[in-house]
Amino acid sequence: MLVLGIESSCDETGLALYCSQRGLLAHNIYSQIKLHKAFGGVVPELASRDHARKILPLLAELLAVAGVERKQIDGIAYTAGPGLMGALLVGASFAKALAWSMEVPAVGVHHMEGHLLAPMLEESPPAFPFVALLVSGGHTQLVAVEGVGRYQTLGESVDDAAGEAFDKTAKLLDLDYPGGPNLAALAERGDAMRYRFPRPMTDRPGLEFSFSGLKTFARNLIAQERGDAPLPAAKEMADIAAGFELAVAQTLAIKCSRALQQCSMQRLVIAGGVSANTTLRRVLTTAMAKINGQLFYARQEFCTDNGAMIAYAGWRRLAAASAAGQLDREQQSLAVEVRPRWPLDELPPIKENG
Ligand code: KG4
Ligand code: ZN
Repeated sequence: MLVLGIESSCDETGLALYCSQRGLLAHNIYSQIKLHKAFGGVVPELASRDHARKILPLLAELLAVAGVERKQIDGIAYTAGPGLMGALLVGASFAKALAWSMEVPAVGVHHMEGHLLAPMLEESPPAFPFVALLVSGGHTQLVAVEGVGRYQTLGESVDDAAGEAFDKTAKLLDLDYPGGPNLAALAERGDAMRYRFPRPMTDRPGLEFSFSGLKTFARNLIAQERGDAPLPAAKEMADIAAGFELAVAQTLAIKCSRALQQCSMQRLVIAGGVSANTTLRRVLTTAMAKINGQLFYARQEFCTDNGAMIAYAGWRRLAAASAAGQLDREQQSLAVEVRPRWPLDELPPIKENG
């Protein structure tokens, strides 16, 4: 089965072709960073228009690179949520129309399920069950994963997501959008031990997170260190970035170890944009070594938004629907439905070897 995956939930248009026999054939991505940079964040209307502009040329390029003809595609997977309404609608209506014209099924994929399954595209994929830490711009969640669609949320952030905390703190440090990777780059030059940020909510039991206090802590530090200047000197800025990054990483690591112990599991999967962070990976590798745990993550480009994860998750669901004789139902519906908000726990499970 050959599945085309389409991701358009935020500021990246990502397409990919996943083949059940040969794995990932090709993928491409167009990032809207340049478009939104001047505004310091994603402008939803501009995002939608840019997805509409890029999606067809990306498909043409993808097919050419993979050496595949359109008629060879057996099914189409698109991100149906969560995400920006307009951006989701572009990908969903494109996918539905294309699927209809080609008489193949289309399946809506949950964006966070895409992230969660992305490490399956790597050479040594994690086996079920495992605990997943989903850390993106809009979500910070610990999830017990028994199989595809068998998710139980163990804890999440009560305020800012980890990526959001990176982005907001980056803004305070006068860094350009997208803040996370820019803050990480600045932190590389800093001394993480100089400023001791709190490790929020680690001194009490539970698997909830709270990251908004770290941003306030950074704001106060910046005010303290800048004197009469608009911002602190470069050295202080880098040290603040490093202190912040280490606090986020160690906080996440404490909760991940706790979640594994609580579930009596050994495998930890990290996914979503923040899982690209090298400090987080290093801190988690050390934490896992202490408890005999195993850490899994996707290659950097599949941590942030991409089409490959949608093609893969879509293939898992289409293959299961096919095995259950339900593909026709998927194919018949011409309605374009997207869900800007969509709890992961609401997804239906699939049969394991489906
Ligand atoms: O998964 P993702 O690409 O999009 C969402 O689904 O939200 O995650 C984007 C988030 C942004 O907040 C971005 O700043 C953060 O991931 N991010 C990073 C890094 N790369 C992306 N945060 C810290 N370090 C990174 N290297
Ligand atoms: Zn994402």
